Amino acid sequence: MDLFEKKFKDAMLSKVPLLNRITYYIIRRKGKQMRPMFVFLVAKMVSNGGFDERTYRGASVVELIHTATLVHDDIVDDSNRRRGFFSINALWKNKIAVLVGDFLLSKGLLLSIDNEDFDLLKLISIAVREMSEGELLQIEKARKLDITETVYFNIIRQKTATLIAACCGIGAASVSAKNDTVQQMRKFGEYIGIAFQIKDDLFDYTDAKIGKPTGIDIKEQKMTLPLIHVLNKCSKKEKAWLINSIKKYNKDKRRVKEVISFVKENGGIEYTISKMNKYKNKALAILDAYPESPYKNSLLLMIDYVVERKI
Ligand code: IPE
Ligand code: IPE
Ligand code: MG
Ligand code: MG
Repeated sequence: MDLFEKKFKDAMLSKVPLLNRITYYIIRRKGKQMRPMFVFLVAKMVSNGGFDERTYRGASVVELIHTATLVHDDIVDDSNRRRGFFSINALWKNKIAVLVGDFLLSKGLLLSIDNEDFDLLKLISIAVREMSEGELLQIEKARKLDITETVYFNIIRQKTATLIAACCGIGAASVSAKNDTVQQMRKFGEYIGIAFQIKDDLFDYTDAKIGKPTGIDIKEQKMTLPLIHVLNKCSKKEKAWLINSIKKYNKDKRRVKEVISFVKENGGIEYTISKMNKYKNKALAILDAYPESPYKNSLLLMIDYVVERKI
């Protein structure tokens, strides 16, 4: 990871001083770096410790794309905090944040192109397309308030799980694994990614200090699994009250608190945790086919971390 961080930093360089100031800020407030870890650990697991310069580039590409999407996501969500400090849009405003996101995206894609990692480029480009579609589908559903559980899973698969799927696929492809293995690792990453986003949505129902705002999904009219589940099982009258709260009182702090309490009292959290564990187990089942190794053991720890993490 130390070597990765150095390479990642170099991959962001620009001739424009303002950009370098902003990327310096981004590097100082780094995230959990889970995605590069998935790239490295999958590469090592499928090749029994093998490793390649391509693996490092793959890891840098996914973290660059991830960073770009966070910068854009905070504009879209009108969120002023990220990783325990101000978001890029909060400090430099939307105009600059949009362009910084584009810059990071292009740097990621070019890192693959310049090194002719076209197989990796294809995997990451699919993720970029899916993430944009997922974010837009989410906005469409937030406007209509007609989201179902199936649509929720489609949204999180597209906006979050495809990138983690790409990480695991890229890890395998970077050490020239067979296509079957690459596809299987993508599926593995997809299951982890779904569990990961469910966990993220659960945080929104808590007051946990996670370095970004909580309790904002309802304000943004974003309906996630705890709420969707409760909407499906409550009475007609309660459903009307919930929908009306989200439609008209989503900026009313007291009303939002009432909605959150209602969701908690009606089993929304327990149901969501059980779904998260279902996806965790699907990921574990894929690993079953691989022999014992330190890399596999680390991946098992990573899976636990995804659902147990406090940040
Ligand atoms: C945040 O991802 C975006 C989601 C998909 C929920 P992470 O929680 O991995 O973000 P950092 O990189 O650690 O800040
Ligand atoms: C995750 O979406 C970001 C992307 C997948 C682009 P959210 O909006 O749910 O994540 P946070 O909570 O801001 O990190
Ligand atoms: Mg968002
Ligand atoms: Mg967000």
